[in-house]
Amino acid sequence: MCGIFGYIGEKEAVPFILEGLKKLEYRGYDSAGISTLDQGKLFLSKRAGKIADLEKQLKKKPIGGDIGIGHTRWATHGRPSHANSHPHEDCQGKIVVVHNGIIENFLELRRELSEKGHKFISATDTEVLAHLIEENFSLPAGPLRREASRQGGDLHKAVTKALKFVRGSYALAVISEHEPKKIIIARNGSPLIVGFGAKECFLSSDIPALLKYVNMIIKLENDETGIITPNKLKIFNSEGKLIKRKRELISWDPESAEKDGYSHFMLKEIHEQPNAIRKSIEGRIFAESHKIHFDELNLSDEEMRNINRVVFTACGTSWHAGLVGEYWFEQFAKIPTEVEYAAEFRYRHPIIDENTLVIAITQSGETADTLGAVWEAKAQNAKVISICNVVGSSIARESHGVVYTDAGPEIGVASTKAFTTQLVIVYLLAILFGKRKGKISDHDATKLINDLIELPTKIEQALYQEKAIEKVAEKFYKATNALYLGRGKGFPIALEGALKLKEVSYIHAEGYPAAEMKHGPIALIDKNMPVVVIALAGRRYEKILGNIEEVKARGGVVICIATEGDFSLAESADEVISIPKSSEALSPILAVVPLQLLAYYIALKRGCHVDQPRNLAKSVTVE
Ligand code: AGP
Repeated sequence: MCGIFGYIGEKEAVPFILEGLKKLEYRGYDSAGISTLDQGKLFLSKRAGKIADLEKQLKKKPIGGDIGIGHTRWATHGRPSHANSHPHEDCQGKIVVVHNGIIENFLELRRELSEKGHKFISATDTEVLAHLIEENFSLPAGPLRREASRQGGDLHKAVTKALKFVRGSYALAVISEHEPKKIIIARNGSPLIVGFGAKECFLSSDIPALLKYVNMIIKLENDETGIITPNKLKIFNSEGKLIKRKRELISWDPESAEKDGYSHFMLKEIHEQPNAIRKSIEGRIFAESHKIHFDELNLSDEEMRNINRVVFTACGTSWHAGLVGEYWFEQFAKIPTEVEYAAEFRYRHPIIDENTLVIAITQSGETADTLGAVWEAKAQNAKVISICNVVGSSIARESHGVVYTDAGPEIGVASTKAFTTQLVIVYLLAILFGKRKGKISDHDATKLINDLIELPTKIEQALYQEKAIEKVAEKFYKATNALYLGRGKGFPIALEGALKLKEVSYIHAEGYPAAEMKHGPIALIDKNMPVVVIALAGRRYEKILGNIEEVKARGGVVICIATEGDFSLAESADEVISIPKSSEALSPILAVVPLQLLAYYIALKRGCHVDQPRNLAKSVTVE
């Protein structure tokens, strides 16, 4: 939700900031802006629209300076417009602020500040920060001034004081003509990372945007503020006490954060799935000794044995991973399992205890509702582990234990490789618990692990269908509605297929358990609505054939995801996309791949902005 990028050093700031904002555009892209300090004077350029529009504006009317902060916005308060774009200024235009998050008490603050004479020009919550800092800023004279600057300066003090009045979440960066050689930053809830170069520092909402320039970083923690100068970052706790923190080395390969020749990140990330899965299981499974090991799980064998209930909690695609996990945990570990939307779980006083394992699934590790669910689970004494793709993210740190997916940075807003790697980790956790609880034999565990080892190659084979899928997309891209049906573990995959399609192509799509179709959605079926059916070999195959007949009997159009070698489906279905044979347990991971490609090609043919679908943000850090 919104991206922040900043630069301070000896070079021109704007090119770095524009480049950084482009990388952060997935976090929000309805307006953008940059402010710089040039020879001690503030300059500002902002507008509604994409970063490319801002870039054009800056070409016509450049702003210079070797210090600057920029912002790409995902609107929460106030529609996308020039006035609502960040950076926001104080009354005198001497302090500017960029912010990611939500100031919950902004109306109250705005009223109080207005009464004191502050003039507001936007509808945003962020603008109160600029005025609140202005209100708390005072430049003492003489020796006091020296002392103030030793403590971090008045601007830093003003930010710290201002934040005492603020309720909500924020990552913010502030620059000012009052103290033109520094960037002040603060964090509570939304990520902020500082990267260190030679006599220059960068500031970003995520790590991939920094990788081109630096590999040494420091993450600001909640309730901390900081002062960035070209050579240094000083960090302070909420009491204003200086904190020491070591720089971390980031081992992500910068190349992997780029498009690598693919036309979109989504397509690249779909193709990266075999390797992402290989990396995610490497060093964690030992087929011969049927062992599974996760370094940071933080659960003893006894604690695992005592778990008598599992609750998955997550949002969106990650929630779908939990739905598949429910089948695996009940099948392999025989533990009663539920799956909860994080936003619902956190507020409904769930009945859980120390023998409940809450598994939070999240690609970003920053999703506000999932974080809230983790807090709630901890408050009720449950054991909490998270499955995250971002090392050191808020949710990873808040959980008792964590298993990282090793998918690498996922840039496309529509989650693909993060989903399949989440599934792989959930599958392994279910086997691990099955073993600890004595519900699964070593022989069966070895078989399940061996099946998983073969999975990446099978996904590579599934990707061979890309051209065929593109042709199917050609036939259906003008549809306005679509239905996705599946049974068993195919049902969450139907939900995920439908979510992918609606996210990137804006076609209205619904996922349903196939048997539920005749309890309502069947009324929608006609020749214009494609019905995508996950019809894989296995226990429920005959039942799903019955559902396909029901659709065909009503003149519907059926696209089947089928198991390779199933020729009988060709007679009833209009289109058949085959995936390689696999174990029934792992079939959902294979089945989702063609659905990702189908959504991608349909969106492409509709001319949609695949990597940055309208209204969406990659990381939803507001409730
Ligand atoms: C997936 O395509 C979506 N962009 C979205 O549903 C996402 O999965 C959800 O917001 C949860 O994000 P997280 O995994 O980072 O917590």
